[in-house]
Amino acid sequence: MIRFYDFAPLDGITKAVYRRVWARCFGGADRCFIPYFSPTKEHLLTNRERVELLPENNPDMVLVPQVMTNRAPELLWAAETVRELGYRELNLNAGCPSGTVTAKGKGAGLLARPETLDALLDGACGKLCLPLSVKARVGFSDPEEFPRLLEIFNRYPLQSLILHARVRKDKYSGPLCYDAFACALRESRNPVSYNGDLRTTGEVSAFAERFPGAERVMIGRGAVADPALFRKLKGGPPATREELRRFTAALFDAYTRFYDGQTGLAARRMREVWFYLIHLFDNARRLNKDMRRFRTATEYRAIEDAIFTELPLRTDSNGDLI
Ligand SMILES: Cc1cc2nc3c(=O)[nH]c(=O)nc-3n(C[C@H](O)[C@H](O)[C@H](O)COP(=O)(O)O)c2cc1C
Repeated sequence: MIRFYDFAPLDGITKAVYRRVWARCFGGADRCFIPYFSPTKEHLLTNRERVELLPENNPDMVLVPQVMTNRAPELLWAAETVRELGYRELNLNAGCPSGTVTAKGKGAGLLARPETLDALLDGACGKLCLPLSVKARVGFSDPEEFPRLLEIFNRYPLQSLILHARVRKDKYSGPLCYDAFACALRESRNPVSYNGDLRTTGEVSAFAERFPGAERVMIGRGAVADPALFRKLKGGPPATREELRRFTAALFDAYTRFYDGQTGLAARRMREVWFYLIHLFDNARRLNKDMRRFRTATEYRAIEDAIFTELPLRTDSNGDLI
């Protein structure tokens, strides 16, 4: 039975502004993961990173910050830094598939070099001032690599091992490797959480039936497409049209404030949210195209208004999302 629901980190989308408005309008996730920050050897937070992490910018939520590094001193510094800000857990990114990240041996690049992963965890675990969880994939090139990786993870006490059930080259689409996840459920010494392509309450139920031993899932794109998804998973109602209208209006206002009144920049951020949210509406092809092409905030507002006025609202997001 699934008992814990986490909102995945989505860099560029689920940042502080989005999380704040979403938590006020919908909420329902047990925890939200903050998109990663990458410490340098100077051990300084940039202003942007500080804004993202400051507790006053993140009210009403249980949050877990995420760090991207392959060096123990930076991992230890990141833990100290987030603990001072009041956090109770740090998450290590071992799954980012971007070429520039993996080329530096970070993100999913850690999975291609199991010795580095082992050295990183060995150098940090035991000295960390707060619990560490890891968000990883089931392999770098091949899910056959997973047992070797699990052997390493099993040497260290982790708050949880969150697995995106794909290898690096498949990024966020392509075949899901359920066998590797099943292996993790059977053999992990640490609690395991599943991540990948859960979009509706029906899909989560089917997942829970397939893996009766699973207790934790992390959901990303599905929750941006349907902001009421976590609420529904806990027995609550689907989003109404009015709620969604209030949500997108509040989000646009919050982005406008964030960008000191520049509504064009706010509208561009809304486009990224609508990239997913449009899947909660039927017959959206034409307006979706418009949403991808608008130039001004006024055009954006008109398209959004047409979506809310003209398109049928679905109870669940559609299957084209991923
Ligand atoms: C736009 C975008 C940004 C992402 N940013 C991060 C990130 O900062 N850290 C991370 O661990 N994963 C990141 N991910 C991966 C997601 O957390 C998640 O693993 C992925 O979307 C698959 O889950 P889903 O099918 O529920 O969306 C990102 C994914 C996307 C699409």
